[in-house]
Amino acid sequence: MGQMLGDIAALLIALSGLAVIIGVILIKRGDRVWHPRVMLTATGLAALFLVFYLLKWGLYGTTRYVGPEEWRGAYYALLISHTILAAINGPLVLWLIYNAFKQRFSIHKAWARWTVPVWLYVAVTGWVIDQILRTYGESAGGIGF
Ligand code: HEM
Repeated sequence: MGQMLGDIAALLIALSGLAVIIGVILIKRGDRVWHPRVMLTATGLAALFLVFYLLKWGLYGTTRYVGPEEWRGAYYALLISHTILAAINGPLVLWLIYNAFKQRFSIHKAWARWTVPVWLYVAVTGWVIDQILRTYGESAGGIGF
């Protein structure tokens, strides 16, 4: 059940990344109708990801890395950069949407240039981390309610 929640979360974050790519392509083609729709869908998928991730965390705790020692440093670099950027991504996205609805598109565009790469990095590394832990992860327990 824990693995299934993790898989759903990984799928949701990967789908949100895909939606962001589609949203960028749409606005580059000048589609101001579907760009917001697809980007808001991407935001919804990322929010849903958070629900599943927190559910897994609350029910099953965290997963410890028990893979090859020579890869431990690289794994933690990936995990820490992913976690920090994921935390930054939330407020960045809300700020982007806020400015878009206020029709402040120059601010929207300026921040979008940073937010899109951050979002994609978080989505890709989130999925990669899940794949690594599938093979090299061991339950570290949790609060277990
Ligand atoms: C969090 C979700 C969003 C992301 C990541 C995002 C990202 C972007 C990106 C990358 C661009 C192109 C910037 C450039 O060409 O340099 C853009 C432009 C634009 N976005 Fe968004 N966007 C989001 C949500 C929205 C929403 C909700 C709306 C409308 C309510 C919107 C309306 C627009 C418009 C109209 C432009 C074109 C601005 C212009 O060319 O002057 N976006 N956005």
